[in-house]
Amino acid sequence: MGKIRRNYYDLFSKFYDRFIAMHATDGQGALRDILAEHTAAGPGDIVLDICTGTGAALRPLAARVENTGVVVGLDFSSGMLRAAHEKTRSNARVCLVQADCSRLPFKTGVFAAITCSHAFYELKGKTQVKTIEEIKRCLLPGKPFLMMEHEVPENRLVRLLFYIRLMSMGRERAVQILKHELVFLKRHFRHVKKTTTITGRSKIYTCI
Ligand SMILES: C[S@@+](CC[C@H](N)C(=O)[O-])C[C@H]1O[C@@H](n2cnc3c(N)ncnc32)[C@H](O)[C@@H]1O
Repeated sequence: MGKIRRNYYDLFSKFYDRFIAMHATDGQGALRDILAEHTAAGPGDIVLDICTGTGAALRPLAARVENTGVVVGLDFSSGMLRAAHEKTRSNARVCLVQADCSRLPFKTGVFAAITCSHAFYELKGKTQVKTIEEIKRCLLPGKPFLMMEHEVPENRLVRLLFYIRLMSMGRERAVQILKHELVFLKRHFRHVKKTTTITGRSKIYTCI
């Protein structure tokens, strides 16, 4: 199953950025800038972006940690990582790691922040809970996990597409995501704060 999903994302990586550009309202990647700001990371910090895909969040994160910090982009798809490498190869602060986010290949307590944008909903089965456990293990004490996801769209057609995508993940999971995401996060983190982004189309959960 894992291999099939990786192959799917390898294929998707060939047109992912063009697909996102067709739908995005933040052509300049403003959403990932906002996500990076929410990390409160600063010079010298080590930050991890899981399910980094083509690496959209890596540039703004690297800007925060400056020349003394490190940003790690992790994904299990070699195709996605190849695209991320194309974007970030001139940035010495960025490293890319191929791994499953439910088994993070890092020591305990190393990251000043961990981010995940528009990917957590796509994790299957027990992977979500295992990933949260790994995130908590790898974060420095008191440091945040930032999860960015889509809000339910206002436009009727886009909303229909959003529901179709959720339902393709299975009815039970779709209901769980829509109704219980806050409950789910609060089960794992002591403090969970939701912020709606300026576009109104995405939300960021800050979890500590
Ligand atoms: C919708 S893309 C999001 C990419 C990026 N974060 C963004 O905001 O554009 C989801 C990404 O999650 C990755 N992914 C899915 N399941 C994963 C897993 N179990 N471990 C690591 N990466 C995974 C996929 O390969 C894909 O690159």
